[in-house]
Amino acid sequence: MKVTSLRNETTAQIYAWKEAGLSIGFVPTMGALHEGHLSLIRQAHKENEVVVCSIFVNPVQFNNPTDLEKYPRTMEADLDLLEKEGCDLAFAPDVDEMYPEPAAEKYDFGALESVLEGKFRPGHFNGVGIVVSRLFDIIMPDNAYFGEKDYQQILIIKQLVANTKSTVNVVPCPIIRESDGLAMSSRNRRLTQEQRAVAPFIFKMLTEAQQLSQKLSPEDLVKWGEKMFEDHPEFKLDYFQISDNKSLMPIKAINNNKSGRLMVAAYLGKIRLIDNVLINF
Ligand code: PAJ
Repeated sequence: MKVTSLRNETTAQIYAWKEAGLSIGFVPTMGALHEGHLSLIRQAHKENEVVVCSIFVNPVQFNNPTDLEKYPRTMEADLDLLEKEGCDLAFAPDVDEMYPEPAAEKYDFGALESVLEGKFRPGHFNGVGIVVSRLFDIIMPDNAYFGEKDYQQILIIKQLVANTKSTVNVVPCPIIRESDGLAMSSRNRRLTQEQRAVAPFIFKMLTEAQQLSQKLSPEDLVKWGEKMFEDHPEFKLDYFQISDNKSLMPIKAINNNKSGRLMVAAYLGKIRLIDNVLINF
């Protein structure tokens, strides 16, 4: 596996592969890799001749300085995992390489960036747009792989691709979970033992909600969910919402919708957890 930290050197290698007619699959990450990330690498392997992974904790997408400071960084272990997965190139730039000047781009993602994560993390998706757009310019992938764990992020990236008339094919991949249902996340490493023990509550109630959706209206289902969180004060709920799969606007009543996405974000102590499931009506 090649490991690079410079843009030019990375792009030169990519051109060499492109000239050889090889297709490029790309998995952008912020490191602290787990099975969720590795599932994207495996998917990329199936569909491309070359697999590239980036590891970069992107400061401009953090709206909370403590979250950025405490974000887990495990570069050596990450490179070992990528090597084992047969990744061809790991691109791990430092902040100055990605941002020689302060980033000033402003993206218009429409209503998508003002709901859910966009509402609770102002500026977050603009920061994601900036880094992913720069990474796409450097890596020039045919296919780029993103996890449905960050469901709204996928919609944002699809919008970015449309706005910039990019040819990158965005491939959504399913959420990988721990055996007790907790969605894997780099931030899970920061949970205390006690918090880790209660964290699977979120997925348990999401699966219960999937059953209840056959009986309750979307509005009543949301009320039920909010009440469940009230009864579990160790969590501080940001949102529990049933959203349209594409626009993410709240679904209040079932009209023509056959399905929606149940989206949840809650703090457990200082750690913010997000998760989502498909709801069939
Ligand atoms: P990061 O949180 O490291 O996640 C990198 C990719 O792994 C994202 O596409 C994310 O959705 C996916 N992922 C994380 N946990 C997953 C899980 N349990 N199952 C499946 N996929 C999972 O998302 C980012 O980084 C950044 O915003 C980034 C796109 C790299 C831009 O900085």
